[in-house]
Amino acid sequence: MSVRMAAPLTLVLLLMIHRVYGQSGYSVSYGSSHICALKGSTVTMSCTYRYPYGSYVMMAFWTKDLIEGEEPTDLSVDPEYSQRLQYLGDKQQNCTVRLSHVTEKDEHEYYFKFITYTDSKWVGKPGVRLSVTDLQLESPERVTEGVSVRLTCKSSCNLTDTPTFIWYRNSQPLTERDFQNDRVYSLISRGDAGYYSCGVQGHDYISPAVYLDVRYAPDTPVISVSGSAVIMEGDSVTLTCSSDSNPPAEISWYKGTQHIGFRSIFSISKISFNDSGEYKCRARNEHGDEYSDPVTLDVQFQQGSGRKRTVITVVSGVFIIMLLFVIRLKWMNRIFPVNDYEVK
Ligand SMILES: *[C@@H]1O[C@H](CO)[C@@H](O)[C@H](O)[C@H]1NC(C)=O
Ligand SMILES: *[C@@H]1O[C@H](CO)[C@@H](O)[C@H](O)[C@H]1NC(C)=O
Repeated sequence: MSVRMAAPLTLVLLLMIHRVYGQSGYSVSYGSSHICALKGSTVTMSCTYRYPYGSYVMMAFWTKDLIEGEEPTDLSVDPEYSQRLQYLGDKQQNCTVRLSHVTEKDEHEYYFKFITYTDSKWVGKPGVRLSVTDLQLESPERVTEGVSVRLTCKSSCNLTDTPTFIWYRNSQPLTERDFQNDRVYSLISRGDAGYYSCGVQGHDYISPAVYLDVRYAPDTPVISVSGSAVIMEGDSVTLTCSSDSNPPAEISWYKGTQHIGFRSIFSISKISFNDSGEYKCRARNEHGDEYSDPVTLDVQFQQGSGRKRTVITVVSGVFIIMLLFVIRLKWMNRIFPVNDYEVK
């Protein structure tokens, strides 16, 4: 109940103050008492002023230093401001001013002052507080594929003109515009990795880029075999195991169930018949591991290399001769069957 009473009471009080204030005939009112602007942007401080009927304004200017006992200086003659300040107002009632290319150095309270011919001076106090902010993109440094990620475009004060945020990945603007200063990826994927930055529509300023590292388990590794399709004894053979993963996977090689190597490239410089068999590789990182399909190495004998080859050559030679002999017998029987019987 007391709270409910408080509001109308304050209002009445304010009205009274306003009337007293207004009765002097002088007043300055600003469009907003606090402006938060993006670094490099142009700020318009809207302002109106009043003075008693019949007075005339001699001087009207903006200032930032209100020092007791000192005359405030006109910003338009301050070298720091003269090039960037534009008085849009008039000598009647409009005191709007525009300041371009704002930087953190411009963070001050600004006041409008006017002097009439009757030498009445009036400063609009409190003034307009200007805060200048840059943008910083906040994102987790690294995430695992599939999780939800929130990127936030942070400013040190809440931007006065409701901004539309533009997001960039690898300097390319992403097509969607955001009215919030954050952006959520509910299922982040490896394709979303990259350098992110953010900006505000209508302004050139862009935040420094932040790298978003998306980590994932290895894909099923694939083995590639270098060299000819037919592997002869004594050849050099290189097996390469490749798998996409982030961070890079540790590779292990297996022949059958036996562990035989660690690096992604497995080389056999002089392959022998005993190296024949099934080879597999495994890719592993902290997010998971996967085995490749096996690859079979079938090592052939080199001509004239060893006894086994000779034995096989001799055995197959004998077999072929016998085959020819049988064929020849059958063929002769067909051509000269009668003769054969006649001989009997
Ligand atoms: C003051 O002048 C500016 C620039 O001409 C204008 O945009 C603004 O609307 C004016 N304000 C008032 C209260 O007339
Ligand atoms: C900006 O606005 C939000 C919500 O309106 C508020 O929670 C936050 O404290 C404000 N930030 C600053 C720096 O004023």
